[in-house]
Amino acid sequence: MTRPLAVDSVSALRAQIRDWRRDGLRVALVPTMGALHDGHISLVRIAQERADRCVVSIFVNPTQFAPSEDLDKYPRQLGLDLDLLGAAKADLAFTPAVSEMYPAGFATRISVGGPSVGLESDFRPSFFDGVATVVAKLILQTNPDVAIFGEKDYQQLCVVRQLCRDLDLPVEIIGAPTIRDAHGLAMSSRNAYLDEGELAVARQFNTILRDTAASLAAGADQQAAMAEASRLLIAAGFRSVDYVEARDSHTLAPWRRDREGRVLAAAWLGKTRLIDNVDVPSA
Ligand code: PAF
Repeated sequence: MTRPLAVDSVSALRAQIRDWRRDGLRVALVPTMGALHDGHISLVRIAQERADRCVVSIFVNPTQFAPSEDLDKYPRQLGLDLDLLGAAKADLAFTPAVSEMYPAGFATRISVGGPSVGLESDFRPSFFDGVATVVAKLILQTNPDVAIFGEKDYQQLCVVRQLCRDLDLPVEIIGAPTIRDAHGLAMSSRNAYLDEGELAVARQFNTILRDTAASLAAGADQQAAMAEASRLLIAAGFRSVDYVEARDSHTLAPWRRDREGRVLAAAWLGKTRLIDNVDVPSA
């Protein structure tokens, strides 16, 4: 299998995209931090349906990690990632070094309001500034027609939509359904941290969220349903729960029954923090 062309400079990325544009081709961007799994490959497939050429960026973005977080141990496997992208027939991998993305003297940070308020931000206060800054850079560097983001990181998807709308970035943002294992566990690069026992607990995460969403749809009191979800997560073996909340699917404002809803949660298993979300089925 042939690996895709890999470039690590913005100038080489732009030169390739310029060639494709000259040929009238549509370009899709799939931003990733590598450690690719089936979830990422599903994004590549959607990119290929929506455009003629698919660029996958692989960049573990330091600005979205707090000093206490797992930047150093975040899984890195560039060779394997390029093999996976070759098998998926992605066209170009953009693999910049930190110095290419944040050269000496870099001093800009993008801060998105609206959907970034609460949830992840309550526990990772600088996370979305880091995400918004790097995503804006990747979009400006690549100038894609479409960019694909997984619904697994649902709040991130909403923040990216807001970012592109507010800054008039001329790109269509596509949200892609979460890919799960046979037990409902959402694919995540951080699942690699889980041992066998933790994996068994992690596999109950989605079931508990789906049951919570179903009880909301059936008319359960919102506060009571969230408290029960937290209790069930701890009873299942999670060490602690950062949040379980029902939010408006579009704005991420607190959910009202007449609006489409989403239950979002983050919980800890040992030293690993997992997030997931499900929609509230219509009653
Ligand atoms: O979801 C991710 O992998 C990252 O947050 C992203 C969007 C690639 C930005 O670094």
